[in-house]
Amino acid sequence: MKKIWYDGKMVDWPKAQVHVLTHGLHYGSAVFEGIRAYKTKRGSAVFRLKEHVERFFYSASVLGIKIPFSKKEIEKAILELIKINKDKECYIRPIAFLGYGKMGLKPKGAPVNVAIINWPWGAYLGEEKPIKTIISKYIRIHPGSSVMEAKISGCYYNSVLASIEVQKKRVEEAILLDFKGFVAEGPGENIFIVKKGKIFTPSSGTILPGITRESVIQIAQEIGYKVKEKKITVKELKTADEVFFTGTAAEVCPIGQIDKTIINNKKIGEVTRKIKESFNKTVRGEDNHYLKWLSFYD
Ligand SMILES: Cc1ncc(COP(=O)(O)O)c(C=O)c1O
Repeated sequence: MKKIWYDGKMVDWPKAQVHVLTHGLHYGSAVFEGIRAYKTKRGSAVFRLKEHVERFFYSASVLGIKIPFSKKEIEKAILELIKINKDKECYIRPIAFLGYGKMGLKPKGAPVNVAIINWPWGAYLGEEKPIKTIISKYIRIHPGSSVMEAKISGCYYNSVLASIEVQKKRVEEAILLDFKGFVAEGPGENIFIVKKGKIFTPSSGTILPGITRESVIQIAQEIGYKVKEKKITVKELKTADEVFFTGTAAEVCPIGQIDKTIINNKKIGEVTRKIKESFNKTVRGEDNHYLKWLSFYD
């Protein structure tokens, strides 16, 4: 039976339960991470574990959630869990939430629970084929209404609404604009455009600055591309030579259509393909330069 790490203990999967009066369930007062582990020639490894745990603690601090473990303990717990579960390639979901014992919006005094769950999760948006997207009718949360750099569960209602729209319109993913009408990000992905061989991505402020985004920027620069963060208009997006998403779940995912606009004849573009290949090599330990991003556990 698979285990879940729950408040410092390995518990059987069905036993990792919460009470219906859990604070986080009512008010979204929880923070989470999404991490991936990959098989490599030297054994399995977690990609950018330290950075994910760092962001987990940062997100918690934004909501005033005091995680009763050190960063090192959480890193160790993640590696131990996936080893015990014998998962050589998987998605990992740490979550910290205000628990049962206190209702009302003022969180002071509410207990903190922490759990780590992992499961096998293949390509989130498909493998090679560029996906169909729409520009969502929902805009990204106003940066003055939240802290965009934190992964706060409550804020994901915005991503869920956009995803409901995606399912109704029978496309694969949404692109959300910010409150000024500039391109922001996907419900769970960052976005990049390629124009005349140069790469652009929305600047931070209205997006979650993803760990994959940061990795891809470094990888692209290493290949020799110029990458610039800037405000991107819908027109620039739709007239781009190539468009792709990045994210832990989505990895590097080419976009072939935005609303009715076809991008690069619905084919993966040259730049996207190079970056995707390089990213795939990086996470699988095939590029020595980026071995520092891998935490081996098996
Ligand atoms: C809203 C949003 N943007 C971007 C990302 C991509 O971030 P990362 O590459 O760290 O997974 C995610 C996923 O965590 C997300 O939820």
